[in-house]
Amino acid sequence: MSKIKIAIVGCGNISECHLKAYKNNPNCEIYAFCDIDEKTLMEKGAKHGVTRLYTDEEKMLRELPEIDAVSVCTWNAAHKDCTIKALKAKKHVLCEKPMAMNSKEAEEMIKAAKENGVKLMVGFVRRFGDDTKTLLDFINCGELGDIYYAKATYLRRNGCPGGWFGYKALSGGGPLIDLGVHVIDLVRYLMGRPNPVSVYGATFDGIGKRDYLKDKPQYKARGGNITVQDVEDMATALIRFDNGAVLSVEASFNMHIKKDEGSIQLYGTKGGIKLDPEFEMYSEKNGYLVDINLSKKVGMDFDKIFQGEINYFVDACINDVDVSSIAEDGLMLMKILDAVYESARTKKEVVI
Ligand SMILES: NC(=O)c1ccc[n+]([C@@H]2O[C@H](COP(=O)([O-])OP(=O)(O)OC[C@H]3O[C@@H](n4cnc5c(N)ncnc54)[C@H](O)[C@@H]3O)[C@@H](O)[C@H]2O)c1
Repeated sequence: MSKIKIAIVGCGNISECHLKAYKNNPNCEIYAFCDIDEKTLMEKGAKHGVTRLYTDEEKMLRELPEIDAVSVCTWNAAHKDCTIKALKAKKHVLCEKPMAMNSKEAEEMIKAAKENGVKLMVGFVRRFGDDTKTLLDFINCGELGDIYYAKATYLRRNGCPGGWFGYKALSGGGPLIDLGVHVIDLVRYLMGRPNPVSVYGATFDGIGKRDYLKDKPQYKARGGNITVQDVEDMATALIRFDNGAVLSVEASFNMHIKKDEGSIQLYGTKGGIKLDPEFEMYSEKNGYLVDINLSKKVGMDFDKIFQGEINYFVDACINDVDVSSIAEDGLMLMKILDAVYESARTKKEVVI
């Protein structure tokens, strides 16, 4: 079987994770790179020995019709256009999270995938962790009963990555769209993908404009030395689903906490589970309250989750596996995020 030819659009930080995983997949060939920043493009080409280098995606797609699939790893504002260009050229697309800037853009992307008969997958990489798989096993075996409440936390004390991540015009928002998206998707996925019906949210931006670069020199401004930071520092929301369950989510780039923290907690009629930093389960047995721990720890390995995601995408391209539900989940996420930002603006509950 011939290898599928992969192009990367957006050759920054996260493209390295995609590249490493594609290289480990025997069914792929890294074929071409595209980045609007010529320096980044040239460096990436030299590093990976790729010589088909383009600063214009349309030109690349025109000149290299043999490309099979594209990873879109640009900043968020370019996801929609870069994805739709590739879909219209009949390429399968793996688009990084968040799927788009808002739900309207996500709908256009799904429409383009359907019209062109190609695959569109969103990079919900946390789904591929061993910890997630273990948790799902427990849920599927009925250990939690009916899940009625969940908490998802992704808090950083001083962790805006800088550059375009803090600039709304390129990112679409702050920690909610960057970090919250991971944990909201994870909870929804573990709950069996219920549909959101309403959202009450709030965002805060009182401390983000401090000079965080002094404290974290490694957070160099990305995207042409952007120094504007106009996204929220912190977001919190209550999301109600059509099965009656409620998710409480909180995400921050800047917040006065002791240290960064992240966790997923699910509460059901038979048991509760906490994930991150470790798997813990709370239940009842024979009239006693019991805490259950795994004798062998399961965790989340960054390389492994990207390998899982890329292998899944490549397999879908080669064996014509339907991944449309993952794009639909990307759209659902964008609807939730739109509603949180809208609720924060209006200070009212938003019905989806
Ligand atoms: N899955 C994860 O855990 C994870 C982690 C980090 C980032 N991300 C996502 O990956 C994406 C990229 O993040 P990053 O940290 O790599 O950013 P980055 O700034 O390091 O890289 C983005 C690159 O995209 C390029 N670009 C922008 N518009 C383009 C266009 N129209 N055509 C071609 N290239 C274009 C920029 O020049 C830049 O080199 C973001 O959507 C981010 O949310 C995901």
